Amino acid sequence: MKIFNYGSINIDHIYQVPHLVQPGETLSSTHYKQVLGGKGANQSIALARAGASVMHIGRCNKADSWAVRLLEDAGVNCQLVELVEQPSGHAIIQVDQQAENSIVLFGGANQSFTEDDIAQSLAAAVKGDWLLLQNECSHIDRAIEYAQHKQLKIVLNPSPMLADLASFPLDKVSLLVVNEVELSQILNTADLSCAQMVAQVRERFPKMDVVITLGAKGAMWVNSQEHIQVDAYKVEVVDTTAAGDTFLGFLMAAISRKESKQAALIAGCKASSLAVQTLGASSSIPTAEQVAAL
Ligand code: RIB
Repeated sequence: MKIFNYGSINIDHIYQVPHLVQPGETLSSTHYKQVLGGKGANQSIALARAGASVMHIGRCNKADSWAVRLLEDAGVNCQLVELVEQPSGHAIIQVDQQAENSIVLFGGANQSFTEDDIAQSLAAAVKGDWLLLQNECSHIDRAIEYAQHKQLKIVLNPSPMLADLASFPLDKVSLLVVNEVELSQILNTADLSCAQMVAQVRERFPKMDVVITLGAKGAMWVNSQEHIQVDAYKVEVVDTTAAGDTFLGFLMAAISRKESKQAALIAGCKASSLAVQTLGASSSIPTAEQVAAL
């Protein structure tokens, strides 16, 4: 079983700031770092570091071939990654002293895929393989439709939440990985407790598995019959960028090895607790050995 990840490759510019910049304000940053990021690339790296077999489908500018080398060095299969003329996607990330962040995204090459490009990239995928999707590349709705037609299993992390999500055929998704804010937006509800949202998920998506990340409270797995919750590890948080991506990569790697849902949740929580202790996106993702040693 292979995991195909149709996902973004971003160049992240990370600025440590005393507070997040306010409208009209000019602010000096105290530290700057440029790293490989993008939810897609981060999740592929986390999957590979966790020992899964992952093929990344993505694009970046010719001048950024270093990003592809980093993916390959982590163990990601990059045969379906293209170097193109369009500028690479990038993110301007501010991280304040409380580890809060704010992100400005530029889609660039991530948004250049046509429906035909996606179909072509998935030509080698066969029934039972997984397609992993986030929401930083073009035509995610069509990718879901096409993957279902090929009988692939679809895992969707609908982040960042944009208006186009309303057009996604969520009923075709096997596994949805979301945080509480994203879930309340999907359900189009405000002020519901987590337990109330879980009840709504069961009613509206009876065939779907849903993993909800709860930050410092851990994570839970919900479907029509099960409700499994695990605690988070208590750590000193420096930067939460890519914590969700790390969680998802280690969770999916455990699923691909057919480990239990509880074991998969624990692997995700362990790995993300290590990621938040370091500044950066892909550079903060731990190895399987570091996670095992925790
Ligand atoms: O999830 C973190 C990622 O979100 C960053 O690496 C940035 O590129 C944005 O896509």
